[in-house]
Amino acid sequence: MLKGTVVTIQRHIVEQERMFPKATGDFTGLLWDLTLAAKMISREVNKAGIVDIIGLTGESNVHGEAVKKLDIFANDLICKSMEHGGHLSVMASEENEDIIPIPNEFPKGKYVLLFDPLDGSSNIDANVSVGTIFSIFRKKTAGSESLKEDCLRKGVEQVAAGYIVYGSSTMMVYTTGNGVHGFTLDPSIGEFLLSHENIRIPAKGRIYSINEGNANTWDEGTKRYIAHLKESDSATGRPYSLRYIGSLVADFHRNLLYGGIFLYPADYKDPKKPKAKLRLLYEANPLAFIVEQAGGMASTGKERILDIQATELHQKMPLIIGSKEDVMAYERFFGQKQ
Ligand code: AHG
Ligand code: MN
Ligand code: MN
Repeated sequence: MLKGTVVTIQRHIVEQERMFPKATGDFTGLLWDLTLAAKMISREVNKAGIVDIIGLTGESNVHGEAVKKLDIFANDLICKSMEHGGHLSVMASEENEDIIPIPNEFPKGKYVLLFDPLDGSSNIDANVSVGTIFSIFRKKTAGSESLKEDCLRKGVEQVAAGYIVYGSSTMMVYTTGNGVHGFTLDPSIGEFLLSHENIRIPAKGRIYSINEGNANTWDEGTKRYIAHLKESDSATGRPYSLRYIGSLVADFHRNLLYGGIFLYPADYKDPKKPKAKLRLLYEANPLAFIVEQAGGMASTGKERILDIQATELHQKMPLIIGSKEDVMAYERFFGQKQ
């Protein structure tokens, strides 16, 4: 982009789509609808603290409507913003048990949208950053019916993915497979403006992010890897620093910019039945697409996240994601766990 040119997200999406001569503009419309939903969620997240002051914490608000939890609000808002555009054939959300069909009164499109409407929502009352994560596929099955099979895919089939982080400013980061680009919301004009063009994650970081309170439940490989990070690094002479917000989007975003590794390994309390926490479709896949596009890596410890064939909508996976050399080092430790 030319220096000094103000690039709105809309312009950026249009220019990305122009690279594909056969594009219909459908995809641009889809991403554009999503940015509008993001702006509305951002507004609600930012005023969450005011709710107490103006007395909206009861069962109903001034209009007599029930006050919704913010994650349900975000979920409903995304569904309502995306269902009528004619771009989507089906949606699935972390908050819904089953797929979300497009209502019959609206035209169906060729894309599939999977999302985590509010990630890190337990942090919201403490004014800690939260986010929204999305993943987009092209519809796979023939016919106009929307099927679960259209959602149960491999991450490599994603055509776009992104997240919005509602932090000290609101940022949207997305990829369509042509690098990773970040936009910051300028609230005075209500537009996302290009602020981070072609983000590259450093090959090796100095930060690790993990819920260390779970240390007793880790496999031996993870235990040894984390112990290794606490030893002085031969290059820097210092151990890695621990940074853990507890909002995946915010932890991921920081590590994407500064370099580092985020880990949510499985719980091995019952070694025969390791239990993961993060969801493949709404959390791991989209962030894995982004990190790979930025030059990083995402793994379960033994397999590339993007190669996993989803079999259930709410399937959970260990997620080890971040700088390439760090994730590769983890895989070595994990592979030697016995
Ligand atoms: P969500 O708010 O969408 O349910 O996701 C919460 C996730 C994720 O944001 C974060 O990385 C992780 O939960 C934190 O889990 P712990 O509290 O177990 O560390
Ligand atoms: Mn989440
Ligand atoms: Mn969530």
